[in-house]
Amino acid sequence: MSSSASDLDRILEVALETARRAGAILMEKFQRLERVEKKGAVDLVTEADLASEREIVTSLRRTFPDHAIIAEEGDYEQAVETPHRWVIDPLDGTTNYVHGLPIFAVSIGYQREDVTEAGVVLNPAQGEEYVAVKDRGATLNGRPIQVSKVKQLAESLLVTGFPYHHDEVFNRTFDLYRAFHHRCQGVRRLGAAALDFCCVAAGRLDAFYEAYLNPWDVCAGDLICREAGGRTSDWFGDPMPPDGRRIIASNGTILHEEVLGVLAGEEFAGLR
Ligand code: IPD
Ligand code: CA
Ligand code: CA
Repeated sequence: MSSSASDLDRILEVALETARRAGAILMEKFQRLERVEKKGAVDLVTEADLASEREIVTSLRRTFPDHAIIAEEGDYEQAVETPHRWVIDPLDGTTNYVHGLPIFAVSIGYQREDVTEAGVVLNPAQGEEYVAVKDRGATLNGRPIQVSKVKQLAESLLVTGFPYHHDEVFNRTFDLYRAFHHRCQGVRRLGAAALDFCCVAAGRLDAFYEAYLNPWDVCAGDLICREAGGRTSDWFGDPMPPDGRRIIASNGTILHEEVLGVLAGEEFAGLR
């Protein structure tokens, strides 16, 4: 069962207000960080990630006490079964944030029975708010957005990202990077997956691929991209994996097939 139009209006209103408050917290602490900790060798977490998540979880719990929550920095046990789930990245692009680079986001997605129905991605440093509701399209600061029309890899500008763990598979992602780089006009690495999806949605980039993401990196961005006319999938062309592993988001032209074709190459069998 999907949500009624009025339920979705309310969900979007709360998601947007909450994301704005979280964005304000990020901006208060931006370039004023007192503490940066490491989750892994290069995987950082800051007081800003934690404060933003606290604000979002508290706000959603207050309004929707029965809804389930998945967020990057904490475990939020849900006692009762529920069809409602929020999927949250309180600060996407932490490494950029720590270095004072204004490419980071708050990402909040809402799912009902595993279907994403609303998504909000805010880049507070650049005053950009991307919003999508299932079957209602996607907007940037209230104006409808559309993916690009580029049809060939040779004419395209791509974006990707790399995992934090530096193992053999990590090394293979650079072979993949090289393979795409030879075939298109450039492959960017912006450092915030939620914004990578939104850049495809807004027609600024033509396709995005990445090997290892997590549910909170993809939930809202996936919907925003599809509602802007794009296509999202795994590396075999099947629907976007909710766990964020092996993803593509593109403008939905035959470019998507060309990207799939590169990923299907024998030399990348070990990556798939
Ligand atoms: C990271 C960013 C990055 C991607 C990493 C993510 P975080 O998220 O989205 O672009 O390449 O895989 O983990 O850690 O900054 O929230
Ligand atoms: Ca993230
Ligand atoms: Ca994060």
